[in-house]
Amino acid sequence: MMSRLLSRCLLAAGILFAALAHAADKPQVVILATGGTIAGAGADAAKSATYQAAKVPVDKLIAGIPTLSDVAAVRGEQVFQIASESFTNAHLLQLGKRVSALLKQADVDGVVVTHGTDTLEETAYFLNLVVKSDKPIVVVGSMRPGTAMSADGMLNLFNAVAVAASKDARGKGVLVTMNDEINSGRDVSKAVNIRTDAFKSPWGALGMVVEGKNYWFRLPAKRHTVNSEFDIDRIDSLPAVEIAYGYGNAAPTAYQAFAAQGAKAVIHAGTGNGSVSNQVVPALRDLRAKGVQIIRSARVTGGGFVLRNAEQPDDQYDWVVAHDLNPQKARILASVALTKTQDSRELQRIFWEY
Ligand code: DGL
Repeated sequence: MMSRLLSRCLLAAGILFAALAHAADKPQVVILATGGTIAGAGADAAKSATYQAAKVPVDKLIAGIPTLSDVAAVRGEQVFQIASESFTNAHLLQLGKRVSALLKQADVDGVVVTHGTDTLEETAYFLNLVVKSDKPIVVVGSMRPGTAMSADGMLNLFNAVAVAASKDARGKGVLVTMNDEINSGRDVSKAVNIRTDAFKSPWGALGMVVEGKNYWFRLPAKRHTVNSEFDIDRIDSLPAVEIAYGYGNAAPTAYQAFAAQGAKAVIHAGTGNGSVSNQVVPALRDLRAKGVQIIRSARVTGGGFVLRNAEQPDDQYDWVVAHDLNPQKARILASVALTKTQDSRELQRIFWEY
């Protein structure tokens, strides 16, 4: 009797040891869940755009993809459970600090952040600027909830873990895996609001991930992560930066209201090449004279950049141009940069380099 019990205990111990040893030789990936459609649920499989975001907990997301354990030893943390349009600077700081702390741990090889797609591009760029690690950070979302036919979340998440677990993803900055592509967190933005191929980089994807394997075709050109002068561990607040849209018949009211509420910079989402209408220029010059930074971006995106001193005499007005960054990414960079400098020439250098 005793010998049978002992042999069963030894067998169980052997199986456990083998499982731990097997897991131990796998890359260790932590999934930080924040909500969004990838955690969404709807009542009707035919409704891929009508559902509630931020419902499914991270452990259920992980359990829903059994093959994850083929590529990594995975564990999850539920950092938030929100739709990403409701992200605030406080959410960015908390998430960034958690990512940084995890990547300092020797037993963490990569981090995946599951996120709503609405502001995914902003969070990905923020992490790209401030997390000082060359380990993979992969931000991922989905355009359809898991309850919908042809849901994209499972494969997007599997791909994200595969990329986060891979050595060749190190040193490439924050990455975004959607729709089989690997995009740079700096370049990518949500270009379509209801299709699974929603995420595009104006300069093209970095590569693809197919059946858990990465295929690289280009590398990031701008500073990021370990090569960044910004460090999340030294940032405890983000200065207020707001965005005002340019259009025909525009008035200066929004810019003035933002400044009155304490904005340290206003991003101008200009028509064309960041153009500013005649009725708005005097107000922006007045705000600049009062110490508010004026940064010209453009509502036109998809493969160009705002040329300094072209549509406006930026040197004369002491304004900054956002280079190729869309308004929402320009806001992220301006806020991070203003934690270090109020000098507009330094800001312009930063917009050239990041
Ligand atoms: N409410 C949107 C968000 O959380 C849903 C879009 C999505 O996650 O795909 O970003």
